Amino acid sequence: MVTIIDGKKISTDIKDELKEQVIKLKEKNIEPCLCVIQVGNDPASTIYVRNKKKACEYVGIKSIAYELGEETTQEQLMDLINELNNRKDVHGILVQLPLPGHIDEEKIIRAISPEKDVDGFHPESVGRLSIGQKGFISCTPAGVIQLLKRYGIEIEGKECVIVGRSNIVGKPMAMLMLRENATVTVCHSRTRNLPEITSRADILIVAMGKPRFITKEYVKPGAVVIDVGIHRNENNKLCGDVDYDDVIGKVSAITPVPGGVGPMTIAMLMYNCVEAAKSCE
Ligand code: GUN
Repeated sequence: MVTIIDGKKISTDIKDELKEQVIKLKEKNIEPCLCVIQVGNDPASTIYVRNKKKACEYVGIKSIAYELGEETTQEQLMDLINELNNRKDVHGILVQLPLPGHIDEEKIIRAISPEKDVDGFHPESVGRLSIGQKGFISCTPAGVIQLLKRYGIEIEGKECVIVGRSNIVGKPMAMLMLRENATVTVCHSRTRNLPEITSRADILIVAMGKPRFITKEYVKPGAVVIDVGIHRNENNKLCGDVDYDDVIGKVSAITPVPGGVGPMTIAMLMYNCVEAAKSCE
């Protein structure tokens, strides 16, 4: 029987656990606080930011939204980040990406104090993850690990193939699976014989950004398939990088889209915010 991995339920479980932790922090006069900065009004970013605010409310985290105009300069944004870096009552700083073209994203990410980098995008956070030190971990790959663990899916010693090598998902995902003692292969757009490699995977994690690309020819019988993609198909319905209907008869477990990996990203952002606040205890 195939297991449909319910990311909505697991994300709610995590947020409920965090709620309890926030109550305890507040008893010690620590109110976790996340600042979310949006520059311009990209419609997708507006939805993401709104969902982050809602999750903060649910968990009991204070959220402060900075909605800055498209014309905001790099210097103005840097000044705001520096101010927030220095504020004792602010535990997390998140700059919603993408930023307008005239702003250097890399410099902005570097400006955020690693202690408040709840997105886990700062080079120091990435470096810490790669050498096994404590630090913030990019939320989507951290969410995938939670899904696997909470469904009791063993990782140690398993063949894990990751399709996609982005800084936000593929690369940190590889580091996390290594940390869990999987044997890890990372594939990308230049990989030759992709189906041959993905068919070796006990755990196949797909973050390639191509709608319904992964069909049953890419999947080993009994594999666990984690789909990080999210797209709208020709009927305006959400779908992932995996052709769910095609592979469903072949897998042992799979994340649906929507309701799989998606809700986990925000849950792990909340987790990072609570961890940031705890370090003030
Ligand atoms: N844009 C799309 N996803 C994300 C995210 O997880 N964090 C930030 N900062 N920007 C994003």
